[in-house]
Amino acid sequence: MGNSFGKLFNISSWGESHGGGIGVTIDGCPPRLPLCESDIQKELDRRRPGQSKITTPRDESDQVEILSGIFDGLTLGTPIAMLVRNKDARPQAYDEMKEKFRPSHADFTYQSKYGHRNHEGGGRSSARETIARVAAGAVAKKILSFKKVEVRAYVERIHDLLVPNGLDFPCLDAVEASPTRCPHPKTASEMEARILEAKKAGDSVGGSILCRVRGLPVGWGAPVFDRLEADLAKSMLGLPATKGFEVGSGFEGTFLKGSEHNDLFESREGKVRTSSNRSGGVQGGISNGEELYFRTAFKPTATVLQKQQTVNQEGQETELMGRGRHDPCVLPRAVPIVEAMTALVLLDHAMRHYAQCESFDFS
Ligand SMILES: Cc1cc2nc3c(=O)[nH]c(=O)nc-3n(C[C@H](O)[C@H](O)[C@H](O)COP(=O)(O)O)c2cc1C
Repeated sequence: MGNSFGKLFNISSWGESHGGGIGVTIDGCPPRLPLCESDIQKELDRRRPGQSKITTPRDESDQVEILSGIFDGLTLGTPIAMLVRNKDARPQAYDEMKEKFRPSHADFTYQSKYGHRNHEGGGRSSARETIARVAAGAVAKKILSFKKVEVRAYVERIHDLLVPNGLDFPCLDAVEASPTRCPHPKTASEMEARILEAKKAGDSVGGSILCRVRGLPVGWGAPVFDRLEADLAKSMLGLPATKGFEVGSGFEGTFLKGSEHNDLFESREGKVRTSSNRSGGVQGGISNGEELYFRTAFKPTATVLQKQQTVNQEGQETELMGRGRHDPCVLPRAVPIVEAMTALVLLDHAMRHYAQCESFDFS
């Protein structure tokens, strides 16, 4: 339950951190799309552990195998199944966590709900599951690129270090230039030092990721329950370690009056445009043709390499020393995951829009 996402472009994710591997099945992918493993691998390489000294040292190459749905380099329109095998699992590092609950992790709630859990690497609650989302998101991204829709996420804030306002839409190379995935070089080097400082202290830091989408046409989004921003919020808050979501002016916008906050319409080059974009590219739950942008907050990594108070499965108070290989900050690796989920939401809405509004001619 709860492992499938999307209505027309539907994905089902499976696998645990220290099990055989992680996989995804996509149902509803359009046929005749040119697709090969390298389209998927390039996105998985951005997510994989062991990329730099500010991410977890777990050494996984995360090589994808496509098992079905493609023939002669083109999608068949049949289910696409993809698999990434786990190679560098070290379950013994988690022995203590079999009995003791990690503070602010999923151990207590999984145990209470299911009465049985795989404690190795956090089992299903591990961010390793997001391999499934990134692999499926790579397919969605490729389809969106034919519509000239470009999804770009980057780290905007780590702890209290924030990029300056008003950055241009960055190219992918600018985001990938720093291991932090912050495209502003000065802030990026300060962020890197802050993450290393936390790592040295056996601690962790959080922050926020800004996601921007350009090239969106007017009309994607399905009110009332499937507003575009509602589905984006669900996709973001469905990621591990997320604690907040805001679109457009978000919480800051509430400090303005309506007359200050409104995006005024104007006619530009024969198109209806807005002179500002506090709406964040979405009005009434439907894209309005402006840049879509939203922020997602990620908490500091729960597993810290320090002794903390907790309770064991028998309900007795005890202490737990965090062990294993962990990200001192999850944000750099979360960037491709945010992009993947955004692409999945947008493609699903594109397909729904074309199915409902552009398929029939009643004249
Ligand atoms: C890219 C990424 C990497 C993560 N790495 C770790 C990690 O190394 N250690 C850890 O304790 N949590 C890590 N997390 C977060 C946990 O998976 C998450 O906190 C846990 O499942 C509990 O869920 P919750 O924080 O949403 O309540 C990571 C999250 C993401 C998005």
